[in-house]
Amino acid sequence: MGELLSAEAIDALLAWYRNHQRDLPWRHTKDPYAIWLSEIMLQQTRVEAVKPYYARFLERCPTVESLACLDEERLMKLWEGLGYYSRARNLQKAARTVSAQYGGRMPRSYEELRKLSGIGDYTAGAIASIAFGVRVPAVDGNVLRVLSRVSGSREDIALPATKEAMRRALLPLIPEAAGDFNQALIEIGATVCVPNGEAKCDACPLASECVAVREGLTDEIPVKSAKKPRKILPLTLLIIRDGDRTVLRKRPPKGLLAGLYELPNTEGHLGEEAALAHVRALGFEPLRIERLEDAKHIFTHIEWQMIAYAIRVTPEFDGYPEGSGLLLVPNGELHSKYAIPSAFFAYTKYL
Ligand code: ADE
Repeated sequence: MGELLSAEAIDALLAWYRNHQRDLPWRHTKDPYAIWLSEIMLQQTRVEAVKPYYARFLERCPTVESLACLDEERLMKLWEGLGYYSRARNLQKAARTVSAQYGGRMPRSYEELRKLSGIGDYTAGAIASIAFGVRVPAVDGNVLRVLSRVSGSREDIALPATKEAMRRALLPLIPEAAGDFNQALIEIGATVCVPNGEAKCDACPLASECVAVREGLTDEIPVKSAKKPRKILPLTLLIIRDGDRTVLRKRPPKGLLAGLYELPNTEGHLGEEAALAHVRALGFEPLRIERLEDAKHIFTHIEWQMIAYAIRVTPEFDGYPEGSGLLLVPNGELHSKYAIPSAFFAYTKYL
């Protein structure tokens, strides 16, 4: 790959960023912990969705030490609705490492940051450059799109090798204002060189040397190979209540939505009779059953296609089967104490 950006383009990019950057909460701090938190929350999540979570998280958990000590249920509650919960678990694991190995102060180098749980190449680059001014690249999917268009590259941006080549090409170009430079590229990707819809090339400081603009290729670049299709999982959800209490289940400690609370569910789409039999097998005596609306939830690799029943049961029951993870929660505590992931939000109005 030849030189990605000229010195003039880099100056134009920095000048553009100083005048056009969005006013975002994490741009008002130099606290490496806060910048780290913002970068983790911003992975696969929209800026507008992150803002309230970021503020609340920092309020409740303002330091590495406070995060290292936070109890798991509170941590999950703070992350509830943001998705990709392993981000929160990795964040806490890394906070414990920072606390134990670095006296609670974030390491400054890309290499040390890279070793922490949940911090990959992009995030290590973002934290090192934004919080500490280290001249390293931070190449995420958005930056890859921008630079592929600028350079006219038709390399497949879904391949790790493409990202690595871009990082290498950027490294010698990073200016002193490394954090601004990286955020400027992120900002161009978010507001100008957008992923869906037409790129706003008239507003782009890089347009004068952009190969995709010159050759009319913004629709063709970046090239991104298709991911394999998501697995479809049909599920039947059961909202089991005895009047004052609702049955929740704690998910297993590993895998999708690990350790979070869910409505009891089972694979497949059950008819009413099968759903009632299932509820009896859990130890309850059903009184009424009502079919609710269908819903779906899309995860990265899987799609849940849900049907649901609300089932009223008698207050007496024989106790849960061993290791079932079930618990009968007073209705008043459902929302305040238990982290229920957004996958179930179509049904939380019934809780
Ligand atoms: N996405 C990832 N990092 C970001 C940042 N620092 N500002 C805005 N959007 C981002």
